Amino acid sequence: MGLLIKNGEIVTAADRFVADVYCDGGTVAAIGANLEKRGAKDEVLDASAQLVLPGFIDPHVHMELPFMGTVSADDFETGTASGVAGGTTCIIDFCIPARGESLLKGLETWRERSRKAVADYAFHMAITGWSDRTADEMRAVVQQHGITSFKVFMAYKGAIMVDDGELYQVMKQAAKLGAVVAVHAENGDVVFNLQKELVAAGQLGPEFHPVSRPSCVEGEATERALMMAALHGTRTYIVHMTCKESVAALERAKLRGQKCYGETCPQYLLLDDRVFVKPDFEGAAYVMSPPIRPPHIGHHDALWTGLTTGMLDSVGTDHCPFTMEQKRMGKDNFTLIPNGAAGVEDRLQLLYTYGVCEGRFDVQKMVALGATNPAKIFGLYPRKGTIAVGGDADIVLYDPSSRGTRSAKTHHSRADRNIFEGFKVSGKPTHVIVGGRVRYRDGKLDVERGAGRFIEREVARHSAPVAAGAAADARAR
Ligand code: URP
Ligand code: ZN
Ligand code: ZN
Repeated sequence: MGLLIKNGEIVTAADRFVADVYCDGGTVAAIGANLEKRGAKDEVLDASAQLVLPGFIDPHVHMELPFMGTVSADDFETGTASGVAGGTTCIIDFCIPARGESLLKGLETWRERSRKAVADYAFHMAITGWSDRTADEMRAVVQQHGITSFKVFMAYKGAIMVDDGELYQVMKQAAKLGAVVAVHAENGDVVFNLQKELVAAGQLGPEFHPVSRPSCVEGEATERALMMAALHGTRTYIVHMTCKESVAALERAKLRGQKCYGETCPQYLLLDDRVFVKPDFEGAAYVMSPPIRPPHIGHHDALWTGLTTGMLDSVGTDHCPFTMEQKRMGKDNFTLIPNGAAGVEDRLQLLYTYGVCEGRFDVQKMVALGATNPAKIFGLYPRKGTIAVGGDADIVLYDPSSRGTRSAKTHHSRADRNIFEGFKVSGKPTHVIVGGRVRYRDGKLDVERGAGRFIEREVARHSAPVAAGAAADARAR
């Protein structure tokens, strides 16, 4: 059964025009004026006065992640469903083997967990240590399993953090493979010591979480990761950037010609550190790393400006929800509060409202940040991240005239808090189409457990292994 979308305004990162879209067999079969149904059973959607957007891609989520003594509250089914309700039709999750565990064993575990996804997904493979077999396993992950991006955590000491020697090896091998390395950039040793001192001083509430992770700690780690990447010529993606120091480090690297990219998330653009002093331990709902930053000292402006100037490339969510019951594991010690919050469902409406409607960027830029750039950086383009003949029929009909409010009462995540609770939003997805099927319609989900596919990726041509000469140039700089 085909699907014909009539009279909408198609918005891609490159174009904006009124046309019809015909979807068949899960892909876009035609785009043009006055398209007609091709089969008697075809469904027709009237998209007059609506935007027709590519399905958003969230390059940073953690479904069913075992972390800090518990497991993130959304699994692949509820998390991808929550994404669909918010216009996100594809996620990239992180396969995170335990330190010392084989990457391929970790991958088996994540493949099992992800079988119930209702929308398509890919994985970044986290490297949480280095052994004699890691380089070979990295090669197998890229060349046999279609996972072309890795992840390193420079924080979470004693758990999944890598040290500088390990980071060096990951960057080196990823460059040989033409893979991208995504980096959680915080100086984990400094955080560990600051946490110890705060706890010893009896400073135990959630409001001390940001004190233990000041922005200089993030800026320094960003600089260090980019230096390591420059040594080897590794394509690098700094995740969840929150502050002016890290934006400046990325900017310097870009201006010296490095292939590097930056991601921020709505919470770092729209919230500030006053959330941590909410009474009754409610501040714990906002505990994530790096932390939400103080207002008035330039972090928020640096992030928004980074997005508008192209210094930052993408907006992910770092969706990693924990319920308040889980958060209470740290009621007597902020270092034990599971880090993370929900966001996969909120991103499109927040970007439209606070990015487009507030005049910070246009709707095409929004599409670039939330769909096209993540697809290009991580090798999903042009199958995903745009609306093009032959591409997957992952499409969002967005009604810009609607007005609403984000709330835990109406979101589809298992999180019992919404960190954007009460935020007014302009526009809403009326229909979300995943692989040519309408999976969200006028506020109702119609998803199928297991319908999501694992998307194998290939190393993009422009990210082919760097020549030895290029790495040598980087060393000389
Ligand atoms: O606090 C966060 N961000 N939790 C999820 C894990 C990570 O660091 O991305
Ligand atoms: Zn992180
Ligand atoms: Zn994360």
